[in-house]
Amino acid sequence: DEMTKKPSLTLLIAAPRGFCAGVDRAIEIVEKSLERYGAPVYVRHEIVHNKFVVDALKAKGAVFVEELDEVPDDAPVVFSAHGVPKSVPAEAQRRQMIYVDATCPLVSKVHRQAERQIEKGQHIIFIGHAGHPEVIGTMGQVEDGQITLVETIEDVQQLPFTTEDSLSYLTQTTLSVDDTAEVIEALTERYPQIVGPKAEDICYATSNRQAAVKRIAPASDLVLVIGAPNSSNSLRLVEVAERMGTSAKLIQRASDIDPSWLDGVGTIGLTAGASAPEMLVREVVARLNEWRDVEERTLVAAEEKMVFKLPRQLVD
Ligand code: F3S
Repeated sequence: DEMTKKPSLTLLIAAPRGFCAGVDRAIEIVEKSLERYGAPVYVRHEIVHNKFVVDALKAKGAVFVEELDEVPDDAPVVFSAHGVPKSVPAEAQRRQMIYVDATCPLVSKVHRQAERQIEKGQHIIFIGHAGHPEVIGTMGQVEDGQITLVETIEDVQQLPFTTEDSLSYLTQTTLSVDDTAEVIEALTERYPQIVGPKAEDICYATSNRQAAVKRIAPASDLVLVIGAPNSSNSLRLVEVAERMGTSAKLIQRASDIDPSWLDGVGTIGLTAGASAPEMLVREVVARLNEWRDVEERTLVAAEEKMVFKLPRQLVD
């Protein structure tokens, strides 16, 4: 009746959101490896940065480790979607291990660009976040000293190179589209001779998810981003919303939502990072429905049809 009627809430759901083709493929690789080789299948690093996904695979017999030396010689091992330094498959080969590489093909593409730039005698400036596994993997495609990491425009100003040096740049796939454009501009201003990749390295999933947040944020009082604190692309979605002047929160599960966040809020925007399953989106919607009479609307910024093939060793 009227007395118990919940206040209404408009929920603007971003599209695209959640799983990208690289994450889908990485999860399928672990599942197929479990079918083919039987449990336990070891996985070096979180296959994708999501606890929910990792726990579900653990329950099926996957064992997560940080380094290859934690894996017995005779057990199969999967490398995560973020990619690995060259030394890792080399070590697996030396130990004659069975390994399956779940590196996203769009990350592998950057790896090959790095090799080509070095062959051309260029020193690589790599734009990325220090310590992220993708950055460690890409920097590990070439020799130490052939690649220099920059994170910000300030880092660009500190670089020791001259306009005479042969330079190129590459980027991490999950960066902020806007920040990266500024860093590249600073690079090309300081080093007009620098060469970039033919197509940009920030992947389609990262740019589409950021574009989708730009659609929902201006109309929202608060944006919720489902993702892990170590997920680069999810953190960037929070920043995109905040830069549009809308407060935003990163949550891992519905239970992270503090009901006080809804005080005075009539419209919430909702999205999920590339490693967050859709089930968590539905969980958040269900939670909001407990407090409010939710009217859902989806705002579509782009259509995605990308699918990546599995490694041949799992399809034969
Ligand atoms: Fe690949 Fe981009 Fe996803 S690099 S793993 S498609 S976020």
